Amino acid sequence: MSPIRTVAQRTWLPMLLVLVLAGCGDKNTQSVFSADSGGAHVAGWLPGGHMAAATANIDSCTECHGGDFSGGISKVACTKCHLGNQQDVHPLTWGDLAYARHPSYISQNGTTACANIYCHGANLTGVASSGPSCSSCHIGGPSAVHSWTVFNDFSTGRLPRHSQYVGNSGTASCRNAVCHGANLQGVTLSGPPCSECHPGVTFQ
Ligand code: HEC
Ligand code: HEC
Ligand code: HEC
Ligand code: HEC
Repeated sequence: MSPIRTVAQRTWLPMLLVLVLAGCGDKNTQSVFSADSGGAHVAGWLPGGHMAAATANIDSCTECHGGDFSGGISKVACTKCHLGNQQDVHPLTWGDLAYARHPSYISQNGTTACANIYCHGANLTGVASSGPSCSSCHIGGPSAVHSWTVFNDFSTGRLPRHSQYVGNSGTASCRNAVCHGANLQGVTLSGPPCSECHPGVTFQ
């Protein structure tokens, strides 16, 4: 991120100064740019500032980022960070199913696009006011939802590892809208209901 930013600043600082000196900066431009910031956006622009500004008036970005948001004179495309388009950070095919669609994206593309200081953190531990830590849902760390390696080990007919986990830690981390459901009733395209294998059992 920073090399591109540095290049952009170096390249566009003179141009922006020219624009400002020529009186071309309109009111909106002044509100998203700061004279003190050396030709960059105002402090706090990422991620909160730009989200609020874009949500309020996304057309105001086109002057510099291009009518199709592919960079324009700023040479910074919204899709430099966003995987979808200028409004969607995730690939458009995910829709409301990010929890179910992200594993296949990662198996194809790895975590390069997620692991940075603006999105989910350089070490995938999350970014304040932006993407959560991967471990906020996963109990096995960024790349594994479970802390045991084999869940469906039907070759032995036993699944001892999850019973041990639940015995020690309870079901708090299984119970939510993206894993096994708030009442362990299962989630579409994600974790099965516990009752699939434990009919009639109520877990605490
Ligand atoms: C007056 C021109 C101008 C306008 C208007 C403008 N930008 Fe920018 N933008 C730039 C330039 C130049 C850069 C590269 C320098 C920098 O990083 O600040 C940039 C960089 C960015 C970055 C990357 C910042 C970083 O630190 O990597 C984001 C995000 C961004 N703009 C979003 C927006 C959004 C959203 C809007 C509309 C609400 C907008 N910009 C309006 C010129 C503009
Ligand atoms: C330097 C990286 C970066 C660039 C460049 C960037 N964004 Fe973002 N944008 C983010 C991040 C990170 C988020 C997610 C923040 C969050 O979810 O809280 C985001 C979120 C958004 C959102 C809210 C999306 C949602 O799902 O709620 C909008 C709108 C937005 N950006 C507009 C823009 C526009 C328009 C541009 C180009 C002019 C742009 N962004 C360029 C990093 C960037
Ligand atoms: C909102 C909760 C949530 C967040 C945040 C989240 N995941 Fe996931 N992740 C899931 C769920 C649920 C599954 C299982 C989906 C399924 O069964 O197909 C999963 C599965 C995966 C898998 C497949 C591996 C496995 O053990 O099944 C990978 C890889 C993965 N996630 C990577 C990531 C990364 C990297 C991040 C952070 C950038 C992340 N996830 C953030 C909920 C989340
Ligand atoms: C795919 C089938 C399957 C699913 C789904 C499943 N379990 Fe199990 N579970 C088993 C099997 C088989 C055992 C017995 C393993 C053993 O005896 O070591 C077991 C054992 C347990 C035990 C040990 C106590 C007991 O009743 O034997 C607990 C606690 C447990 N599971 C909790 C859960 C919870 C909570 C869920 C849902 C989040 C769940 N299981 C989902 C198959 C499953």
